[in-house]
Amino acid sequence: MHARAVAATTTAVLGTALLFPGGARAADDTGLPVVVAHRGASAYAPENTLAAVDRAAALGIRWVENDVQRTRDGALVVIHDDSLQRTTDAEQVFPDRAPWKVKDFTAAEIARLDAGSWFGPAYAGARVPTLQQYLRRVEHNHQKLLLEIKNPELYPGIEQQTLKLLGNEGWLDSRHLASRLIVQSFSAGSVRTVHQLKPGVRTGFLGTPATADLSRYAAFTDSINPSHGSLSGGWVSAVHSLSGPHGRPLRVFAWTVDDAARARTVAGYGVDGVITNKPDVVRKALGGS
Ligand code: G3P
Ligand code: CA
Repeated sequence: MHARAVAATTTAVLGTALLFPGGARAADDTGLPVVVAHRGASAYAPENTLAAVDRAAALGIRWVENDVQRTRDGALVVIHDDSLQRTTDAEQVFPDRAPWKVKDFTAAEIARLDAGSWFGPAYAGARVPTLQQYLRRVEHNHQKLLLEIKNPELYPGIEQQTLKLLGNEGWLDSRHLASRLIVQSFSAGSVRTVHQLKPGVRTGFLGTPATADLSRYAAFTDSINPSHGSLSGGWVSAVHSLSGPHGRPLRVFAWTVDDAARARTVAGYGVDGVITNKPDVVRKALGGS
């Protein structure tokens, strides 16, 4: 290795050790925990919209997280709640369609909705993106995607459908599989299905299983992604002691941390990534630039 590269690497490692004596892990080429923009940079732009993806990109954030669900006519769309009510104007546009479930609306109906005004007038007219539109924007921005399959029990076959779209859009080639895509879910069954259908895809289980149960998850998931409030250094070490289906130590991405002090605390537990609505705040707290 070139002497300057050695020096830079040494500085990065020592710097990380000093910042996080509990043992922050090098999860990206910075040597710091990866910062993931939760639903995009959702503190600054309406969650799960293309504007939130772009805002993350403008901040220099490589990883974005989203939530994928399905319309009545079978289109995959990016939205968090199973209802359109909170983040769109569905209640005004379709007053007789309570409770405005995503699964009860067609893609064309959802495309009419304003998914930005609830957040602020500057975002009036933002749309609920289809997953195809979303993937293309993330690709355009040279970003990476932590894709959450949301409420899979409502959408039979959504794992296969999501993988098919990812493949059609070029997201299952070796470059994306190696470093640009993780598929996660709160449903262990859904994560297992993704692993079985496409073993090359890196996966994540959302939750904090008991340490005694972790080895069962290691059969089908590459990371275990807990709520930050449920974390301890011992639990993170227990996760790291196991190898996932790709023969590498399981990783830990903690959510949702918007506070600088808390970000430093969870980094000190040794997490590999921090999922946040305020990626600039967390990046700064962790010593990134
Ligand atoms: O990525 C973790 C986080 O998104 C899980 O919770 O409810 O924000 O989807 P939620
Ligand atoms: Ca999510």
